[in-house]
Amino acid sequence: MYTVLFVIAAYLLGSISFALVSSRLFGLADPRTYGSKNPGATNVLRSGNKLAALLTLVGDAAKGWLAVWLAFLYGGQFQVGQTGIACVCIAVFLGHLFPVFARFRGGKGVATALGVLLGISPLLGLAVLATWLCVALLTRYSSLSALVSAVLAPIYYGLLYGFNLYFAAIVVISAFLIGRHRQNIGNLLSGKESKIGSKKKAG
Ligand code: G3P
Repeated sequence: MYTVLFVIAAYLLGSISFALVSSRLFGLADPRTYGSKNPGATNVLRSGNKLAALLTLVGDAAKGWLAVWLAFLYGGQFQVGQTGIACVCIAVFLGHLFPVFARFRGGKGVATALGVLLGISPLLGLAVLATWLCVALLTRYSSLSALVSAVLAPIYYGLLYGFNLYFAAIVVISAFLIGRHRQNIGNLLSGKESKIGSKKKAG
């Protein structure tokens, strides 16, 4: 019973889009109307407002981390087992992708996934963040960095901690994240993908 409440609370927390919150806060246009039309940090950066993009990144990551951290902290007290916490990981991420507060049309989940990974294991989260940064520094493609990180995240987890329910949750999260980057994959393959900081963006 409590597990269901934890999962619903995680989903609702994930549904808060910091791209929309920060854009409203800074008086910017709705990120769903320009660039890639994705409510995420990379697209908010295309508005030219770095602070709003940073707030989006930190806010979306923080909500993922918070949901998982709270589940680990209070889960035992409320009989939320490993399965429940793994469901919380997926629920907060899916809240970002399919937010109840925005007609179920959300973002691609990169920052939120990072937050979830940091909540599961700071070492894992930092390894994935380092991966993202390395690819971003080398290529300046945010989407490619996210895709490489998404492929490597379950592998890192499996090597560090073995193959358990959190591994399965990370596989699910990575699969959704990669699926959400279909357009980016097409753009990367056709050479149309825009680089970090560039204001132009094909579809
Ligand atoms: O964080 C999402 C990023 O991987 C791609 O974003 O706006 O370039 O589609 P965007």
